[in-house]
Amino acid sequence: MDKRSTYETLVKQATSVLQDETNQLANMSNLVSIIHHGFNFWWTGFYFVESEELVLGPFQGPVACTRIGYGKGVCGTCWETQSPQVVGNVHEFEGHIACSAESNSEVVIPILQNGKTIGVLDVDSTTFDQFDEVDVEYLTKLVHLIWQ
Ligand code: SME
Repeated sequence: MDKRSTYETLVKQATSVLQDETNQLANMSNLVSIIHHGFNFWWTGFYFVESEELVLGPFQGPVACTRIGYGKGVCGTCWETQSPQVVGNVHEFEGHIACSAESNSEVVIPILQNGKTIGVLDVDSTTFDQFDEVDVEYLTKLVHLIWQ
């Protein structure tokens, strides 16, 4: 199956799992699981803005950094710019925060509410250049299942 078809399947699965549940923590937890296991990514999870920092939310994968500053790393850059970040080689990204030495590429999607970044969805892969505009399109769509 190509990437688009896999994402289409995941959107259907996530829609059916999330649609009748109103608890956001439950929905976030299931959504990261669906994405993570759908592609066998290295790390998939949320960070949420709490005053001056991003704080770790529901995730799948190895233990991760708990707090990330505004404008710091790929996640903090996504928060600051309010735009998706696609990094083909994290070792070449200045200021990248290496929660895990195994991670080689990364995509971060902003979660926006009323023009403000309230959090980010971060996905890491051990494969270089894992992510492109198709991932951005579908990960954004998946995030919108919780935050319309
Ligand atoms: N690499 C991220 C930090 C979060 S972990 O990858 C889970 C960054 O540079 O913001």
